[in-house]
Amino acid sequence: MSKILIIDDEPGIRTVLSDIIKDENHKVVTAGDGFEGLTILKEEVIDLVILDVWLPNMGGIDVLKEIKKEYPDIEVIMISGHANIDIAVKAVKLGAYDFLEKPLSLDKIVNLIKNALKLEELKKENNHLKNSIFMKDRMIGSSEQMQKIWTRIKQSAESDAKILITGENGTGKELIAREIHSQSNRSEGPFVEVNCAAIPDTLIESELFGHEKGAFTSAVARRKGKFELAHRGTLFLDEIADMSLSAQAKVLRAIQELKFERIGSEKSITVDIRLIAATNKNISSEVESGRFREDLFYRLNVVPIHSPSLRERISDIEELIEYFMTRFQTQGNRVSKTISEKGMKLLRAHSWPGNIRELKNFIERINIMTDEEDISEETVKYYLEETRETSNQSDEYSELKLNDAKDKFERQFLIRKLEENSYNISKTAVNLGIYPSNLHGKIKKFGIEIRK
Ligand SMILES: Nc1ncnc2c1ncn2[C@@H]1O[C@H](COP(=O)(O)OP(=O)(O)OP(=O)(O)O)[C@@H](O)[C@H]1O
Ligand SMILES: [Mg+2]
Repeated sequence: MSKILIIDDEPGIRTVLSDIIKDENHKVVTAGDGFEGLTILKEEVIDLVILDVWLPNMGGIDVLKEIKKEYPDIEVIMISGHANIDIAVKAVKLGAYDFLEKPLSLDKIVNLIKNALKLEELKKENNHLKNSIFMKDRMIGSSEQMQKIWTRIKQSAESDAKILITGENGTGKELIAREIHSQSNRSEGPFVEVNCAAIPDTLIESELFGHEKGAFTSAVARRKGKFELAHRGTLFLDEIADMSLSAQAKVLRAIQELKFERIGSEKSITVDIRLIAATNKNISSEVESGRFREDLFYRLNVVPIHSPSLRERISDIEELIEYFMTRFQTQGNRVSKTISEKGMKLLRAHSWPGNIRELKNFIERINIMTDEEDISEETVKYYLEETRETSNQSDEYSELKLNDAKDKFERQFLIRKLEENSYNISKTAVNLGIYPSNLHGKIKKFGIEIRK
């Protein structure tokens, strides 16, 4: 059900339109002039406006301009008499959805309303998707720790000094790197990101330095590496401590000389890049234990920036919540939700092992899941517990190699299914869609105890 606002000074028209709209199962509010209409828009959530061209005091066109300025997503249908059709056409150019000509035709009204509402729905959905997926966050927070980070960013952005950003998962290391880039005089150049942990050791050299066609079997075409792509910009080496020692040696040489060769080529390429690296590991202890090259560490660690965990900057939490609440406003809500004081207390006390990323996901989820305008303590508690369960799960797997994680999951899953079927093998096998012999094999492989 949508809410439609009619702005017309003729009571007769207001009544006729109201009746038609109510018959279509929408809600109606009416206003006799532009000022009254704009006041209603401020106070209520309106989905569509039907607006007369000729109005006393403030003309329809001016009202339209105001609506489009303040609420660009609300569609407006104009009503015009025969004599002012030119104005109605002008209104469409100014962003009105369409116009209705007097005398009003029932079919046309119903159709126009239906289509305008549909368009608006699509626009909202679109905005929502854009916001949640593609939009980069602004860096939020005014705690002392955040202010220190801002100062560091400002101080180091101008120079080409190498920067090493450390901090736990989800504390905003990437956001800091992007901020440095955009404040530097390379901001017009590319920002190229490499996730060192995601690239297998055999491919890292080609990923970073590129290759010539035919350099190895799968090299069907020449390919530029990330170092080359970042020319005149910033190269962000993320999860740097996860690189193998042999890859570290190659990177060290490239950043010492800012010179490298594509695989399969003798020709050296020189690039002009600014290097920012990041890791969530304690890199000094990685150096001590010999897993990270000391010389590379000193090369990279010219300006260190430590991004504190959310627990250490709990005073930022309210500001972050407000920001994410606005970002994840659910469709049709022009006013963002709030969190009750007691709910906020719970959030402040939570340990946030996944830091800002976890908080962001939490706010997005709670926005979708609840209709409460001021979210209650109970609701916060419920979804926090749910988060805790899922994050525990990810902890349990996060240190494992893929095959070990698969085995672990499979074992737990089989035990659950067996329990559900009272350890009846053939029933469980049917349930899982595998042969009983296959299930027997797995039970043996995973050493699952069969309870009778
Ligand atoms: N200060 C902040 N204000 C607003 N959003 C933030 C802030 N810090 C981080 N975020 C958001 O939280 C999420 C995690 O941030 P980011 O990816 O930069 O963290 P990270 O430290 O690189 O994490 P990881 O170690 O897991 O790669 C992102 O969606 C980011 O936009
Ligand atoms: Mg990151």
